[in-house]
Amino acid sequence: MNIQIINGPNLNLLGLREPGIYGAESFEHFLSALRGRFPLHTLQYFQSNVEGDIINALHATLENNIAGIILNAGAYTHTSIAIADAVAAIGIPVIEVHISNVMAREDFRHVSYIAPKCIGAITGLGLEGYALAAQYLIARSEPEAAQKVGN
Ligand code: DQA
Repeated sequence: MNIQIINGPNLNLLGLREPGIYGAESFEHFLSALRGRFPLHTLQYFQSNVEGDIINALHATLENNIAGIILNAGAYTHTSIAIADAVAAIGIPVIEVHISNVMAREDFRHVSYIAPKCIGAITGLGLEGYALAAQYLIARSEPEAAQKVGN
């Protein structure tokens, strides 16, 4: 299965950025271990700090044989109707992931324009949320393959 991970603004600074909230591991380091945990599947990765580039990346999944998307839109989660519209437009299952527990933080983080367009959301489980989302997308698309995932 081809899964596209899309990270939004400031997530390129994971490891450096507010480690008390987001942890000390870079996404690149985590991603290489994550790919090792799903050897039968392709995990493609895109990160941008630019709203329109995230929308273009969502559109590009239509041409790249992507069967599921893991989206952490960062702060755009709480502001972007355009990203929400793109998720609704493409018709590919999307799981929203947040590293921190947005529901335990400031009120403005309790609102997601994107989550209602997704099949589900994972928040507050750290980087492991990406692994759980990948596991779910795989199980959903090919239940027999999920048995082979060793985690
Ligand atoms: C975040 C939560 C957002 O509120 C914040 O703006 C981020 C990261 C998370 O992964 O916890 O940039 O999406």
